[in-house]
Amino acid sequence: MSPLARLVVFVAFSAALPIGCAPPDKVDPDAAPPPGPYPVSADPVEGEAGVFIDKVLRTEFSDHIDGHGIKRSVFRLGSGPVSMWVMSYYDPVRGKLVVWPSSLLRKNAVWVFELKEGLTGLEGDPVEPGIITSFRTGEETGDNMPFPWTYYDNDAAPIFNSRCASCHGGASPMAGLSLENADGLWQTAMNVPADGWPEWDRIVPSRPGESYLVYKIIGDRRIVGKQMPRILMEGDQAQPLSQEEMETVSDWIASGTLLSTP
Ligand code: HEC
Repeated sequence: MSPLARLVVFVAFSAALPIGCAPPDKVDPDAAPPPGPYPVSADPVEGEAGVFIDKVLRTEFSDHIDGHGIKRSVFRLGSGPVSMWVMSYYDPVRGKLVVWPSSLLRKNAVWVFELKEGLTGLEGDPVEPGIITSFRTGEETGDNMPFPWTYYDNDAAPIFNSRCASCHGGASPMAGLSLENADGLWQTAMNVPADGWPEWDRIVPSRPGESYLVYKIIGDRRIVGKQMPRILMEGDQAQPLSQEEMETVSDWIASGTLLSTP
């Protein structure tokens, strides 16, 4: 079995077991996955050694998780009795939960990254608790970038201006959403409730996984209306943003919607 498949099976089984119980020797490879989104890969991988003591942990899920459910109490990054305070966000473009320790991890120690109750998928379907990965630290630092710093002026504005502002600009922008300049964004998008998913805001600074706009550009199956950018004729679909452009928008939000490059 590939290490990835092993991890999936391990996570699926450990989720159903009380923590601390070893997974059974024989696993059924055709076993149905748990109901909510489940982890399909983790970095660092299970059993990895020599991991940086400032490691950013990235977990890919089988489907999107609801960023609103991400609270410190839903994770444990621990080494024996020691628990590390972590920071985190969900990146819907890469489909990854990003978690990083608030200070350096203890060197040459085994760390276990575990999910507790509380995380759900976009439809409220619970994510099963369980161990995501365990690894051993080395002695060095070298991976402390939870996102590339991204700015409005040089990074996000060129995308909004070229692909969105023709409709989301001017005196009466479509859907009352203005993406043509910073004023428009701050007045009509930042912390402004979305029409499509009224319990969500269009953009929540620092939280791409809680920003409806990100789901509109990736064209998630659950959005209301069309993937953005759209064409106004029925039945036609505009060229979506490239993966790189989508990542720029997500990273700009994760960076805290910074205005200008220093
Ligand atoms: C051809 C016109 C057009 C273009 C180009 C366009 N949009 Fe839209 N947008 C609309 C219309 C019309 C709606 C409302 C209907 C819908 O959601 O499909 C909308 C809705 C939205 C919404 C949902 C607002 C809410 O509160 O529910 C978001 C977010 C959005 N657009 C973002 C973008 C982004 C980001 C781009 C560029 C990448 C973009 N749009 C490009 C016409 C456009």
